[in-house]
This record gives sequence, C-alpha cells and structure tokens, in this order.
Amino acid sequence: MVQSVEQAWNVLATDWERLEPVHLREMFADDPERFAQFSFSLDDLTIDFSKERVDAAAMVHLLDLARAAGVETRRDAMFAGEYINTTEDRAVMHMALRGTPEDGYQVDGQATAELVAPVLETFLQFADDVRAGRITNAKGMAFTDVINIGIGGSDLGPVMAVRALSKFASEGPNVYFVSNVDGAHLRDATRDLNPETTLFLIASKSFTTQETMINAQAAKNWVENSLGVEAAKSHFAAVSTNLAATGAFGIAPERVFGFWDWVGGRYSLTSSIGLSLAIAIGSGNFRAFLDGFRDMDQHFKTTPLAQNLPVLLALIGVWRRNIMGCATVALIPYNQRLENFSSYLQQMDMESNGKRVTKEGASVATKTGPVIWGDAGTNAQHSFFQLIHQGTDIVPIDFMISAQPTSYLVDQHDLLTANFLAQSHALAFGKTSAEVRKEMVAAGDAPARVDALVAHRTFPGNRPSTSILYRSLTPYSLGRLIALYEHKVFVQGVIWNVNSFDQWGVELGKVMAGQLTPMLDDDADLSALNSSTSGLIKKIRALK
Ligand code: F6P
Repeated sequence: MVQSVEQAWNVLATDWERLEPVHLREMFADDPERFAQFSFSLDDLTIDFSKERVDAAAMVHLLDLARAAGVETRRDAMFAGEYINTTEDRAVMHMALRGTPEDGYQVDGQATAELVAPVLETFLQFADDVRAGRITNAKGMAFTDVINIGIGGSDLGPVMAVRALSKFASEGPNVYFVSNVDGAHLRDATRDLNPETTLFLIASKSFTTQETMINAQAAKNWVENSLGVEAAKSHFAAVSTNLAATGAFGIAPERVFGFWDWVGGRYSLTSSIGLSLAIAIGSGNFRAFLDGFRDMDQHFKTTPLAQNLPVLLALIGVWRRNIMGCATVALIPYNQRLENFSSYLQQMDMESNGKRVTKEGASVATKTGPVIWGDAGTNAQHSFFQLIHQGTDIVPIDFMISAQPTSYLVDQHDLLTANFLAQSHALAFGKTSAEVRKEMVAAGDAPARVDALVAHRTFPGNRPSTSILYRSLTPYSLGRLIALYEHKVFVQGVIWNVNSFDQWGVELGKVMAGQLTPMLDDDADLSALNSSTSGLIKKIRALK
C-alpha cells in the first residue's frame, strides 16, 4: 500500500516497465479468464477493460493512486455541497438535479430538493403542454417546430440527447438547434419553417453569451417581422439563471426556467437546459433519463473504488494518458444515434480537465486531459481507423454498443455488432507478418507480391480499447452513460489536482472577439494590432 501520490506514480511507472514489452496477445493467452477479471457490471451495463494494457497488479496500483490522491474524500466533499469549485467560489451539485429528497443533498444548508422539484415540475409541464398543443401561438395554433438557441453546455448536451433518443420522440414538435454565430446556422434552421408555428427556446445560463444573444435577437426579428411585436411574445421562452437579462429581452417570467450557480454549463443537461429534450421526448421519458443519471450517481457515491465504474474508467484513462503517454482518446459509439456523443464529451472532458495549473495555481506535475474526439462506428472505420490500426500514434478507444437494435431494421444490428467486435479484436490482436504471408500464399499470390505487400498488410495490434455494453439505447441507459463520464471526468480531475469546474481558458478569445469586431469597419485604425491580424483584416476588407 503506497502512502503518497508521488510513490503511487513511481509504482505505476515500474508496472509499465514490466508491461510495455508484453503484447495483449500474450496477456490473453496467459489468462483465459482475462475478460472475467477485467470486466465490471452494473445491472445490464458492462465495461470490459480486458483489452487495455494492464494487469491485476497495475489495477491495484491505480486504485492506490486514486486513494492517495484523495478521490473518496473529494467525492464526498462534492456530494456534501462543499465549495469545491474554488476559483468560482461555488459548490458543484449537478447530481442534485436528479436526486430525491432522500438523498439529502444540500448547498449552503438548504435542501436542494426543495429548489429542484418545483422547477422540474414547471419545465416538464411546459414541455408536455407544448407537445400537446396546450401552449400555443397568439392565434391558438400548436407549435410544430421548436428551435433551441444556445451554445456549449446550453447546446451540446440537448443536441446529443435529442438525436440519441429520437426513437422516443413521437407526436411532439420537431426540435432543432442553433448555436453558431455564423448567421448561416439560424438561416438554415429557419429556411423551411413558418414563424407562425415556431417556438424559440433561448438557453443560456448567463444570458450574455455573444453567439446566443445575437442569434436570439435575429430570431426575434424574424418572428416580429412576420407576426408583429405583440404576437411574437408567445414564440419565446428562456432557460437561464439571469432573470434580469431574460426580462430585458422581453421574455415573460413564467416563460423563464431557472437553475443554479452550482450547476456548471457542461453539467447542466439534467437542469432546465434539458427543456428542448423534454419537449422532444415528453416528461415521462425525461424522468426516466434522470433516473439513469441518479442510479449512476448512487453507484459512484457508494461503491468501493475497486468496483466503481466511473473510478475504473478514470483510472484506465490515467493509465493511457500518464503511463502510456497517449495524447488522445477516441469515443466510438456503435449506435448511429450517438453520433454527437463525442462532441458532447469533448466539452465535458476538455473544458473540465484541459488545465495546466493545479487547484492551488502551481504548474501541474503530470499531463492532464487528453484530446477527446470520435465518430459513430461503422462510419469511423471508413475515415480514420486506418491511422488507429497502422499509424504511428496509439489512440485508445472507448467503444459503446447496445445489445438491442435502435431501429426496426433489426437484422442490420448483428452486422453493426460484428463490426464493433471485429475492430476491438483487430486493434488488440493485430495480424502478424507470418499470418499475412501465410494468407497471401494460400490465396495464390506470387512470392514477389507477397514480399512487396507483407509489411503493408501487417497489423501491429496491442492497441488498447475499452468496451461499454448496455441492453438498449433508452432515456435511462443514456442518462446512466452520461453520468458515468461526468464522474470519470471528476475522478481524473482529482488525480491531476485541477479544478474541473471552471473554464477560464475560453475567456480570452471571447474578450478579444469583442475588441476586434469594430476593427472590421473599413475606417478603423489597425495600427495597434500585430502584423498578422492587421494583414488579415486588410485582406478581409478587400475581399468583402
Ligand atoms: O464555452 C464557455 C462557456 O462558458 C461554457 O462553459 C458554457 O457551456 C457556454 O459557454 C455557454 O454559456 P451560457 O449558457 O452562459 O450561454
């Protein structure tokens, strides 16, 4: 049992000296029970780490690192409502959004259930009323289309979840999303819509984000120009913590759904930021979604570290990042409807742990968050899997798949599943030059051709992947999957000793964009700018 974080890292480095020369082929050959030993389940959810380059001792030592870093203490502090987001001086309590009164969550001595329950009731009622046509335009017509205007945490989660759960969206209006300040986004979303039957949700925690505000104003103009100022009022609702700003924008208080400063933007999907999702799938499905989150919250809160799924996922990530030196992680769901999962996780993970100083403001001692990216399988196989199989960088993969199909074309699901199994197998086991040679000779290839191609057709293997399997893609299972990653990100932030809940790194660009906007005017003085920026502005002015 190690005592300090430094000792724990040293032990892990020694583990890697032992394991680096060992191929996953050998690990599986030496231990026929490897799957049983390295896969962990919670009900129908199974996570298989057996294709990661770890052994039992390394897993024990990773758990030692977690203990030495204080994962349990920090977890308990978060659940206790302590102000663990120190740089923004606030608690981190998104778990309370899906908690029950029995969970006893509190912030500043107040039971969060008393805050959350009435807001949840109100926005779910609003969602069901929109779906049922009880909330209408000024003429009493039901809304056929809903556009959520928001960005970052006020967009990525709802976009991902509405797409993921499209099977559960019936009878309600169509739900669309606009985020980019590029006017083409709003233009394209509204091109085929009728302002008379379009409802806008302006989703912004701060209600000051420049992209959202300018798009909201353009949407307001679009509706007002068509229907007039008074009629347009029934076409807007907001999700925000800034009631003064929503009022100034002209949204009636009963159309504003709030949340709290202890809910970070990228952790806000289960707050009223999920209104667009609730409109898409209805309140019953939304509550099932919350149940999935809550079950994972409870698992994370109460399960010993050695069986704790988010902890284990985090530790495998730390092994990949800090011990193996992998700079990126690809998330590959073999569920087409999870095609946006990696974009959503990008913000959750990279905005949380893309940090270079510790909580105390010193330089970090280790690498922190990796680059997160990915796409749905099988599409990804035909774009970037070449590099993943045979490139010079090792890209660990998190695969996700449901045992049951997500569409009525059930036969295709076996082919999808077989592709997932094939990829994870090929990555781990590869194909040796001897196997390639034998296969080519058996196929009748001439010796010269065999010699010329054998290196090109060899797969090194030994490339790590984790497989996440669940029965089917439902509101419940999606909620559980998201909470799994939320808590994984938290654990990694503790191990890297960073504040996972601030995002100062996105501020500078925002401020500078504000300063540079007037510089695009033809007569603006560019003399204070660097030569590249002023040179580019001159070119842009000339090309406009
Ligand atoms: O990208 C920075 C950020 O502050 C995110 O953390 C947040 O999700 C997003 O902007 C949107 O912020 P808001 O909901 O306040 O418009």
